[in-house]
Amino acid sequence: MGKSDFIFATCRTGGEPSLKREVLARHGGLLTPAFMRPQLITFKAQTPLPADFELGAAFAPVSGFSIGMARTAAEVALRISEAGLQASMLHVFPRVIGEDGVTAEVWQRMDQIKAEVEQVCLLTAGSSGQVIDLIIGEEGEPWFVGTHRASAAVHPHPGAVPRITLPAGMPSRAWLKMEQSLAWLGLDAPESLLGKSALELGSAPGGAAWSLLQRGMKVIGVDTGAMDERVLNHPRYDHIGLAAGEVPFDYLPERVDLLISDMNLAPDVALRLLEPFEDRLKPRWLILTMKMNDAGIEAQLPALIERVRSFTSGPVYAKQLHANRREVTVISQRA
Ligand SMILES: C[S@@+](CC[C@H](N)C(=O)[O-])C[C@H]1O[C@@H](n2cnc3c(N)ncnc32)[C@H](O)[C@@H]1O
Repeated sequence: MGKSDFIFATCRTGGEPSLKREVLARHGGLLTPAFMRPQLITFKAQTPLPADFELGAAFAPVSGFSIGMARTAAEVALRISEAGLQASMLHVFPRVIGEDGVTAEVWQRMDQIKAEVEQVCLLTAGSSGQVIDLIIGEEGEPWFVGTHRASAAVHPHPGAVPRITLPAGMPSRAWLKMEQSLAWLGLDAPESLLGKSALELGSAPGGAAWSLLQRGMKVIGVDTGAMDERVLNHPRYDHIGLAAGEVPFDYLPERVDLLISDMNLAPDVALRLLEPFEDRLKPRWLILTMKMNDAGIEAQLPALIERVRSFTSGPVYAKQLHANRREVTVISQRA
């Protein structure tokens, strides 16, 4: 694509300070913040960026090159052709994404804009892996146009947010965290997890387990806290009412398909407890949340991710998903 000196990054609601700190720590001499709106920051590059530059920020669910602003579908088409982009996907999503998801009415507006843009933009057939991000703010605000390359590190859904909101009456908000994490791993099709098994460290009160049970999995939860009765009484749910460090390994199956850690502990403590379960259960997929309670812990994130890499066999990615609060989600798929 044509050269752009600006990088854009989205973030969860309230995530701007963490994102700016992370970009400063990773690319301080190279990138400086340019403009900032809630949940969207652009950075200016001080020297030319290579075409394959990746921001690689855990606090940015979506990031890439900025290609400018537009007010109409025709202007979007112009920005894309000026940038010389061969894109095969168009993601249209709202700038403001709440922690409980985006409503159907908002998606309807996004779909209308997408249809208008598709009429005038020629997307390449097949998959070039290049995605156009069209980010829609308030009425009257110009649309923001960016681009990123699709990869396993990036959530595949527009805006990194599947089209689901937190339903009323779930055992906990962790239901939505789990749904967003499964979508990132590409496991959100209805039959993907049918008959598969999961073990969750830190399972109470049970929103995540409820999501997995609804998807037809067998689930073992480990927690000393009280579980939601619907989860506890589910025929495919087994509970171990112990702390993770106290679980005798002969209580465990030989393997599970999915290992989850969602313990409200300091990340280094959670990782120490998780590692033997990963070794023993050799899960195909790992989903773990790491609490980022202050800037000091955020600064340790690269080292914490390296630590996860040291005991998993596949690639490891970290992102703050929209349903995460002061935490990031880490995923890995066994090589
Ligand atoms: C954020 S909540 C988990 C939410 C849960 N995943 C859900 O779906 O509702 C954190 C949980 O970690 C549990 N926890 C903290 N330390 C733990 C340990 N050492 N072993 C197991 N669970 C632990 C707490 O009891 C608490 O229920």
